[in-house]
Amino acid sequence: MTQGMLRDDALKGRTIIITGGGTGLGKAMGTYFLQLGANLVITSRKLDVLQKTASEMETATGGKVLAVQCDVRNYDEVEAMLKQSLEKFGQVDALLNNAAGNFISPTERLSANAFSTIIDIVLKGSVNCSLALGKYWIDQQIKGTILNIVTTYAFTGSAYVVPSACAKGGVLAMTRSLAVEWGRHGIRTNAIAPGPFPTKGAWERLLPGDMAAKFDFKNRVPLKRVGEHQELANLAAFLVSDFSGYINGEVITIDGGEWLQGAGQFSALEMIPGEMWDAIEKMTRSAK
Ligand code: COA
Repeated sequence: MTQGMLRDDALKGRTIIITGGGTGLGKAMGTYFLQLGANLVITSRKLDVLQKTASEMETATGGKVLAVQCDVRNYDEVEAMLKQSLEKFGQVDALLNNAAGNFISPTERLSANAFSTIIDIVLKGSVNCSLALGKYWIDQQIKGTILNIVTTYAFTGSAYVVPSACAKGGVLAMTRSLAVEWGRHGIRTNAIAPGPFPTKGAWERLLPGDMAAKFDFKNRVPLKRVGEHQELANLAAFLVSDFSGYINGEVITIDGGEWLQGAGQFSALEMIPGEMWDAIEKMTRSAK
């Protein structure tokens, strides 16, 4: 099993907000932050799910977790969530924009509302939270840090998830823009572009039914495996900690080499069996 990377007190006393923190990757990253001594605020639309996760996390780690219902699409709710976080913990040090919405669909089948729903959750949600936290940090002269979860198709684009690609591309632009604009306040802004890290929520929306077997994602990855949640948690913890204090405006890909394999013109040659290469070499050497 992959182990935690940072030393036990790496996030001691820091308060971190994780949007979409009740399930999946948000929950995995949050659990590790707690193990490193952080206080946590987890938010989503589903208070019952959040409360269950919060008590599970507290029991497992002995840390403090505040569960706040918040639809990140609505700026008033984001402000109220920040207020509640400050009442409970006194200060907020980091924001992890992790909440997302996505499903696969041919774009022409989407309603205008379906398209904007994804943009609203992913892009507007990340904007709303960053804006509220940025105003607060600048006003209070706190050197906060923002970590955005994007995806590798934020740089390449991807068919069949076009609203998500547009939104994540926007979040990446925001990451780099705020890194420069708010850098002078000591606020760092970075992003992680994860490849396939299986979770129930994502797999049911992106690989429903027997698609998970047919489009086995590990075959798309040079390392021939999907990611382990702790591997993502290690990177996220590093990026919200002071150990990454000079990293600003960066997007770090953690995908086992998946997107490069997809991009390389000759990557499909991996299908050629090893014993065929002798014959192929003869042909390439004899080329005139
Ligand atoms: N295919 C096509 N259209 C879809 C759809 C699908 N699978 N799922 C939802 N829609 C459409 C709806 O029909 C609606 O459009 P309409 O009003 O024109 O009919 C629009 O999208 C909004 O859907 P609704 O269910 O009202 O939105 P919501 O805010 O309750 O849910 C989702 C948002 C659809 C993204 C939902 O999947 C969700 O809540 N996801 C959160 C978790 C998540 O996606 N995580 C990311 C995992 S990778």
